[in-house]
Amino acid sequence: MTEKKIDTHVHLLLSKKQTMPNWSDVKNIMDVALIGGLDAVCITEHIEAAGYEALMNGLFVHHLFDAASSVDGTLSYNGVAIFPGAELELADKSNLGVHTDLPTLLSLNRTPGAYTIDSIYETLKAQGTPFKLVAHHVFWPGKTPADMQLLGELVDAIEVPAKDLINIEKYTKLARDLNLGTTGGSDAHTFIQVGACQTIIRVKEARELKQGDWISSEATCHTYCEQSNRLVAMAKIHRQSLVA
Ligand code: FE2
Repeated sequence: MTEKKIDTHVHLLLSKKQTMPNWSDVKNIMDVALIGGLDAVCITEHIEAAGYEALMNGLFVHHLFDAASSVDGTLSYNGVAIFPGAELELADKSNLGVHTDLPTLLSLNRTPGAYTIDSIYETLKAQGTPFKLVAHHVFWPGKTPADMQLLGELVDAIEVPAKDLINIEKYTKLARDLNLGTTGGSDAHTFIQVGACQTIIRVKEARELKQGDWISSEATCHTYCEQSNRLVAMAKIHRQSLVA
C-alpha cells in the first residue's frame, strides 16, 4: 500500500464576491501544492460564490488553466491531481465538503441553506454518481451542525481544520465517537495556506491519484506540521491585505 497526501479543502477564489478566477493566483496555489509534496488538491470552492461556475468550468471544461486533462474529467498539474468539489452552507449554517464529479456539482442548488444534511445526501444518492461528504470545521463558531448523530450517519469524515488546531482534540474525539475517519483541510484561499493540513489515504498502486481513489477511500486520517499555525496566521494577514 502507498500513502497519498491530499489537501481536501482548498479554495481558488479569494472571496465569495470574486466573480472571475485569477489564473495566476491559481498557478501560485498549485505551485505551492507541488513544492509541498501534495498528491492532490480538492477544490471545495463555496458553491454560492459568484465565481463558482466560472472557476469550475474554466478549470475542468474550458481548460483555461495550464494542466493536463485526465480521463475521469479531473486535472493533473505536474503530477498534482486537481479534483472538483464544493463547500455548501447547509440550512443549519454548518459547512459541508461535497466531493463528486463536476456535472453533479453543477446540478446542485447554489443558494446558501438550500439543503439539510439529509436532503443533500438524498439528492446526491438519487443522482447515482459516487460521492464523499466531509463535515468541515464543525467546532468553528457558528458552524456547528444541529444534529451530530445524524451527521455521523451521513458523512464520511470529520475534518481537522488547519485554522482550528488549538481544538484538535475535540475534532478527533468527535470522529472517534461517531466511528468516522478524519480529513485534513487547509481551507486555503491563497498560496500561503495550501497544504497546512492534509488528508492521508492509502492506495494499492503507486500511480497518480484519481478522484475515484479519494472518493472510495476508507479510514482516512489527517496530518499537519509544526509550521501549520504559522502558515494560517500569515495567510490570514496576507488575505486581509488583499480583500481590504
Ligand atoms: Fe472553506
